[in-house]
Amino acid sequence: MYGMIATWHMAVEGITKGRKILKDRGCAADAIETAIKEVEDFEFYKSVGYGGLPNEEMEVELDAGYMDGTTFDMGAVGAIKDFANPISIARRLSKEKVNNLLVGEGAEKFAHKEGFQRKNMLTERAKIHYYNRVKEIKEQEIKPYSGHDTVGMVCIDENSNMIAATSTSGLFMKKKGRVGDSPICGSGFYVDSKVGGASATGLGEDLMKGCISYEIVYLMKEGHHPQEACEIAVNKLDEELKERRGMVGDLSVIAMNNKGEWGAATNIEGFSFVVTTENQEPIVYLTKNVNGKCIHERASKEWLDNYIKIITTPLAREGGKIKK
Ligand code: GLY
Repeated sequence: MYGMIATWHMAVEGITKGRKILKDRGCAADAIETAIKEVEDFEFYKSVGYGGLPNEEMEVELDAGYMDGTTFDMGAVGAIKDFANPISIARRLSKEKVNNLLVGEGAEKFAHKEGFQRKNMLTERAKIHYYNRVKEIKEQEIKPYSGHDTVGMVCIDENSNMIAATSTSGLFMKKKGRVGDSPICGSGFYVDSKVGGASATGLGEDLMKGCISYEIVYLMKEGHHPQEACEIAVNKLDEELKERRGMVGDLSVIAMNNKGEWGAATNIEGFSFVVTTENQEPIVYLTKNVNGKCIHERASKEWLDNYIKIITTPLAREGGKIKK
């Protein structure tokens, strides 16, 4: 038995490649790294890897996390610049005894020493998004942080080994050095091969307040189905934050247990995810929260075609100058 689940529709090509590895009796670690690299390499996904949207200084700083649910090896990078595949650096760091989470210059130094591929991750398209957003903020004084997404995945292979991993460029227009939930074990991801794994996407600052991925795995360990565990964790954190702080950011999660059963939950409109199992080719679902219950609907061909059209539509520059 094998399976994979991932946040957002953008993971579908990666999951398709990962599934092939699992089908050929490859390991969960290779399947998940291959799947996430596919998302990192595709320039039109503006919240992960190459083409990811920059911070307020127009630099693309990337976060990624990786955990092995059998050995509990864990590695992560935060605010790393100019490397093509942060997920591979996170996996490599998981093999270290200490120094498993490196940020900024330290992470770059490690990656360089280990021979990882350098790459300028700021695309011309991302620069256009940046300048248009600068103009928008000036004219409308809106908050810059909206509409972003992390790729997070959980995978189980034929040997019942489970891996969870994430990769993101974080919040568009974030402060230099800001690190979200994605490289934080327990928040952006968590996995225990004896139980299952989970991963999160949304507003990192709020997801971290609930250590939401650990919470979901804990709930599964207590006997909850992954769907129940996801709904309980999201609804509880959503309510707590509204009660204590009067507001809550986007919270969306996916999970899979060690039987290949899966679940997903959200507190927003329009969260999509991808799932595949041994008997099921990858399917994209859209989910919505109706009074605490998350209802999943298979994305139509029209929705899928429209998504690709939107993300690849040429952009027009509206403001500012492109910095040399
Ligand atoms: N969840 C991604 C971030 O907040 O950076």
